[in-house]
Amino acid sequence: MLDKEGFDLWADGYDKAVGLSDEEDSYPFAGYRKVLGGIFQTIMQTPKATVLDIGFGTGTLTAKLYERGCHIYGQDFSPKMIALASRKMPEARLYQGDFTKGLAEQLRHLRYDFIVATYSLHHLTDGQKVAFLRELWDRLTENGRILIGDVAFENRAQLDQCRREAGEAWDDEEIYFVAEELREAFPGLRFTQVSRCAGILTLARQDSGGKPGAAETERDKAV
Ligand SMILES: C[S@@+](CC[C@H](N)C(=O)[O-])C[C@H]1O[C@@H](n2cnc3c(N)ncnc32)[C@H](O)[C@@H]1O
Repeated sequence: MLDKEGFDLWADGYDKAVGLSDEEDSYPFAGYRKVLGGIFQTIMQTPKATVLDIGFGTGTLTAKLYERGCHIYGQDFSPKMIALASRKMPEARLYQGDFTKGLAEQLRHLRYDFIVATYSLHHLTDGQKVAFLRELWDRLTENGRILIGDVAFENRAQLDQCRREAGEAWDDEEIYFVAEELREAFPGLRFTQVSRCAGILTLARQDSGGKPGAAETERDKAV
């Protein structure tokens, strides 16, 4: 698993490496642009939304939202990634912080229309994911949503199939989302498979009575 220094070293070549894997339709980034595009389109339905990006990397997604007038906040632990993203979004509030320890202090007291995390939360164990998602849930506005794009599957059989297909390329240190299992903690979690190995997970506050993951509405389903 890459640490802070590992991501610093990868920062300059990151966009190219991801783009190639996506174009080749190969694990782990097959569907990357579709995933980010899907999340982008969802957020665009709310004018000038306030968005928190967890593990924003080079800012590929949030820079596009920033250009369209969204208010961008972010947390990442790599100083190099923060430097690259800040260049694209000079007014964004980007903070350094390790999300295994929760939200950075500066981000803990605000509320967000959308909290996004693309290809970052697979660095957490499943238990850590649940605890962190609960913390994020509490930071949503009344109709807020958490949108996660990552290597993800509806069930473990599909994950195992992808693992077999990926062969030696499979990264055993990354802990991918299995929607069916995460629903034990978040019953209303919605999952859309986007490619052979990627998908979008949605946790919506709308009509949930404030409980994490209660059933989504018809309007959510349209996203
Ligand atoms: C694979 S990149 C994804 C970047 C971007 N979200 C994207 O979709 O292209 C993972 C990002 O998460 C950050 N990251 C990984 N583990 C982290 C942690 N424990 N705390 C904060 N950031 C972390 C890395 O520095 C990196 O920028």
